[in-house]
Amino acid sequence: MSANKDIAAERPKFVLLVAGFGFFALSFVGMGLGPWISLGFSMEPPAEMADANPYVDADGEKTAIGRGREVYINEGCWHCHSQFVRPVANEEFRYGPVSQAWESMYDVPNTFGTRRIGPDLAREAGRRSDDWHYAHLWNPRSTVPRSIMPKYTWMFEKEGETWKPTQKAEDLVAYLQHLGIAFKQEVRAQVWPSRVVTAGSPAISEAHQRRGEELFGLHCVGCHGETGDGQGIAADFLAPSAADLTTRYLPREEVFRVLFMGSEGTAMPSFAELTEKDLWALSSYVHDMGKSVRKPALALATDPVVIARGEVIYREKGCITCHGERGIVPPAIESGYHPAPKHFRDRLYSADYIKHVMQEGRKGTTMVPYRAIEGRELDDLVAYLNSLFATDQYKEEQP
Ligand code: HEC
Ligand code: HEC
Ligand code: HEC
Repeated sequence: MSANKDIAAERPKFVLLVAGFGFFALSFVGMGLGPWISLGFSMEPPAEMADANPYVDADGEKTAIGRGREVYINEGCWHCHSQFVRPVANEEFRYGPVSQAWESMYDVPNTFGTRRIGPDLAREAGRRSDDWHYAHLWNPRSTVPRSIMPKYTWMFEKEGETWKPTQKAEDLVAYLQHLGIAFKQEVRAQVWPSRVVTAGSPAISEAHQRRGEELFGLHCVGCHGETGDGQGIAADFLAPSAADLTTRYLPREEVFRVLFMGSEGTAMPSFAELTEKDLWALSSYVHDMGKSVRKPALALATDPVVIARGEVIYREKGCITCHGERGIVPPAIESGYHPAPKHFRDRLYSADYIKHVMQEGRKGTTMVPYRAIEGRELDDLVAYLNSLFATDQYKEEQP
């Protein structure tokens, strides 16, 4: 026998043993130790999140967020929704910052999910208003007309004529509004554009107009209703209610602005992800819904004496602090209020609608009722508000 005879051939058991231990050690280091050490680096939460398990309070009782998480798990939302923004395929442009390890340190069992039939929810905090979530849970088709998500009507109960969320639904929404809360500001900047980007209003053809109608059916009817009167199937849940688009004259540019920016603090989302062409088609369609308001509204605002009296009321009642000098909302107010007060320079309302708002205010906003203004004072105020419309800037387009 030669001395250099192959060890493997002579002592196969020994080699297998060494290889076995070797591979075990390798996988232990690679799949256990390595991730554990590198997790340690990314496990450090920002100071303000450090000592807070959001799911239990100081007495060990489940919080609303904790109960909401239970509902999320029990209802199997994770079958269709992931909670993990991956560092690939530009996901952060859609969802926000990539997920970090510390975010899920209290999530036992985890809710990463494996499938995305619906969108990732890891960055849901602040993306939608609470009322949007209620309407959506009650019937997803009310806020997203083409949605395939199932209804969760058993989380609601009927109170008189309207549906109200139960504790379960409230907890679930508290949980959804907590998902990715540490990144709310970043996501906010993504979801609510702070300035409008457009090349300007194109000429509107008939095909364009039909496209507008089609898009309205695809995206808007659940909230605004078929006719735009704000009575879509989501109506019970929305506060403030979806705008009644038949009571106001909105120039195309103003509709475009609202569609692009959304109305933060309300269910009205930004549609900036649609193409510019589609946004103009929608703007034109919505503009037409309120076209008949223009003439009568302007006709009310012709007598300078009446307008001057209206202006005194506008100042004395303090409308001017929010709606601004000449109906232009001051920038600090506009960025500080969600939703922002409306610019009267860019819109006309029917007299009936203004009177309705003076009676009821706008539920869910800082616009309170002013029932003390009535009779001639109210007519004067209506005339003044309509006189603020920038008639020369928004010349009505020729048919
Ligand atoms: C059968 C799959 C399915 C199930 C189950 C499901 N969803 Fe969805 N979900 C979707 C789809 C598809 C969408 C996208 C369309 C839409 O917004 O309705 C969606 C959208 C959403 C959105 C909107 C995200 C956004 O900001 O656009 C939220 C929030 C949501 N789902 C929460 C839930 C919750 C909570 C549950 C469990 C109670 C749940 N979903 C169960 C499929 C599902
Ligand atoms: C989830 C419900 C919802 C959906 C979907 C929705 N809206 Fe709205 N919309 C609202 C609410 C609520 C308001 C009121 C916002 C406010 O008072 O600031 C509103 C306001 C508006 C306004 C502003 C009116 C004004 O006087 O400033 C326009 C224009 C509008 N929506 C058009 C649309 C169009 C077009 C679509 C579809 C592309 C759409 N909305 C989809 C809920 C919705
Ligand atoms: C504290 C601030 C504040 C004051 C004061 C105020 N408003 Fe408003 N107003 C708002 C806000 C915010 C909105 C937007 C509500 C919304 O988006 O639905 C609004 C909306 C409106 C609307 C439009 C509602 C709609 O559906 O588009 C009218 C009309 C209006 N205000 C009239 C007045 C008049 C008249 C006065 C004075 C008597 C007044 N407001 C005082 C904050 C204010």
